[in-house]
Amino acid sequence: MSSPKPTARIVATGRCLPDRVVTNHDLESMVDTSDTWIRERTGIRERRIADAVTSAADLGAGAARMALCRAGVDPLEVDVLIVSTATPDRLLPSTACDIQKLIGVGNAYAFDLSAACSGWLYGLTVAEGFIAAGRARNVLVVAAEKMSAIVDWEDRATCVLFGDGGGAAVVQPAVDDRGIVSSHHGSDGALADLLYRPGGGAVMPMDEEVLRRKDHLVKMAGREVFKNAVRSMAEGAERALAAAGWTPDDVDLLVPHQANIRIIEATAKYAGIPMERVFVNVDRYGNMSSATVPIALDEAVEQGVLEPGMNVLSVAFGAGLTWGATALRW
Ligand code: ACO
Repeated sequence: MSSPKPTARIVATGRCLPDRVVTNHDLESMVDTSDTWIRERTGIRERRIADAVTSAADLGAGAARMALCRAGVDPLEVDVLIVSTATPDRLLPSTACDIQKLIGVGNAYAFDLSAACSGWLYGLTVAEGFIAAGRARNVLVVAAEKMSAIVDWEDRATCVLFGDGGGAAVVQPAVDDRGIVSSHHGSDGALADLLYRPGGGAVMPMDEEVLRRKDHLVKMAGREVFKNAVRSMAEGAERALAAAGWTPDDVDLLVPHQANIRIIEATAKYAGIPMERVFVNVDRYGNMSSATVPIALDEAVEQGVLEPGMNVLSVAFGAGLTWGATALRW
């Protein structure tokens, strides 16, 4: 089967990470945990944590500036700005509008997309749709995540997993056979309570009781999330590969959501892709929600691991539950 012809392509990526490194040893003095436990269960050694004055919008804006500069695109040439975030700076207005102001994409219309860790891959598909419809020539897809702001720093089961960061890509019409070849996304709202923040929204507005119960922070059923993550990403990979007309052997590089090395290894195994062809940086950054995929793509390009013409498969999974897989010819 021949591959579908791409309509849209990532022309450049960018990333922005806070300078402050928090190691597992640092966490040992904050909660009852150990470097060994964290490394063995998650593969994480350290993560970046933003200071109090750095917002999710700042991280997204830093990544967006880098992507625009590398693409050679003037901010005023951007038609649409899509921002995926699980950690919006405010509930109103969108983080996208804050990033628009920071980076000066004054001719774009900007909006947030809420799909947790899968958000950036969802955003990429939305960008592809704008371009396929002929409604945009430059779409900026940004992930902006300050997970440290929504994590309970007294809950060892969650606080050791997350980090902060921003990632971005400029998406333009494809001119040859390089670009987005296929994607498959899914969600299952019936499993929302496996990973969520119960309080702080319109259903449970913030009050002293919400704060006391810490209902404004992340709650997670770790084992259930783990199982669903592997199942959904493996299935997403299979469907995206089938739609691309590829087999696992055709994939030069798998760039998965970086939540946990055991989830990555299990997903790669079920997808039939050996670990030598999997990009991993979860050890240095932890889980930065939707920012993990664009940051990984950006580092893979910079390290020369990802080169023009290679077949890339990216998979993601997150709260919702949501998941997605996208096949690209880079
Ligand atoms: N340090 C030391 N001990 C810990 C820690 C910690 N940080 N956290 C939990 N434990 C303890 C538990 O209390 C438990 O102790 P007990 O046996 O005395 O009750 C023991 O370790 C085992 O706990 P489990 O939760 O069963 O450990 P598990 O092997 O499932 O690993 C983990 C936990 C790492 C959270 C795993 O379930 C996981 O990775 N789940 C996926 C979560 C995830 O990645 N979520 C991110 C959002 S979704 C996404 O991005 C994919």
